[in-house]
Amino acid sequence: MEEIRRPDNMARINTPELADAFIEEQIRLIKEQVGDKKVLLALSGGVDSSVCAALLIKAIGKQLVCVHVNHGLLRKGEPEQVIEVFKNRMDANLIYIDAVDRFLDKLAGVSDPEQKRKIIGGEFIEVFAEEARKLDDIEFLAQGTIWPDILESEQGIKAHHNAGGLPDDMNFKLVEPVKILFKDEVRTVGARLGLPDNMVYRQPFPGPGLGVRCPGAITRDRLEAVRESDAILREEFAANGLAGKVWQYFTVVPDFKSTGVRNGERVYEWAVVIRAINSTDAMAASPEHLSYELIEKLVNRITSEVKGVNRVLFDFTPKPPATIEWE
Ligand code: XMP
Repeated sequence: MEEIRRPDNMARINTPELADAFIEEQIRLIKEQVGDKKVLLALSGGVDSSVCAALLIKAIGKQLVCVHVNHGLLRKGEPEQVIEVFKNRMDANLIYIDAVDRFLDKLAGVSDPEQKRKIIGGEFIEVFAEEARKLDDIEFLAQGTIWPDILESEQGIKAHHNAGGLPDDMNFKLVEPVKILFKDEVRTVGARLGLPDNMVYRQPFPGPGLGVRCPGAITRDRLEAVRESDAILREEFAANGLAGKVWQYFTVVPDFKSTGVRNGERVYEWAVVIRAINSTDAMAASPEHLSYELIEKLVNRITSEVKGVNRVLFDFTPKPPATIEWE
């Protein structure tokens, strides 16, 4: 098949009308490419795979088989939202795989960040490939590749991560309906396809998920502290009009404990670190200036609601010299 590229003179898709025209055109192209064959898609719930899924569901309905792998490193409520949006509302053909134990067992005791990434990436491919082998007559693999992925892989900045990794004998033909779009265009299209705002306008989230925010060897209890504190942070940011305004915000629970007092007893518990930064391209970042009132509220809620946490710290370091994540 001829390589499809973004035309140099293509108008930026920044209005509902332009999004609608793109959607119509893609539906036609997908139908033409796929015919009556089946398409497989790994649906993480991130922006790109979600928009890709929504487009394909509109074009070919149940000929699309979505596989959502819950690796245990997703944010609170994310797997539930994927099921709600795609299975319940869009009536998609969705296979949900609970692989939490499989991933966490493999990660037990592993503290090196690169090793953790390797295990998460490798296990993901394995789970996905196992599932794909159970399905008959799949000819196509859909991917939420976007235009910056192509440009960056051409410039050697990163490997074209999407296509990579599946075993050699699984040679699916690719369907990449958002391949010529920039991220902001993917969001505009996603909104027109009826995806919820918190899915379309979500903050950047690393592939290895909360795994990078649980530095050192991941344990289930510390991971739970990351997930619960992150949920509280998101709730409070939403309640204070900061969701969508601050570029990225999350919590980290480093692998150390310190003393504290609870109900008159000495305790030895973790500290939650809050990171809230603004950036345009993730190359440089500066911390958001939160009000003391909000910080106090976060400290109170996190220390009283999150099990095993007796301190809350705020990371006020810009990038550089720090990175955004605490990997
Ligand atoms: P750092 O920590 O290097 O992060 O300053 C820069 C941005 O990249 C995000 N990030 C990732 N995004 N896959 C992604 O799609 C990944 O594996 C990954 N790791 C980090 C990070 O959240 C920040 O926005």
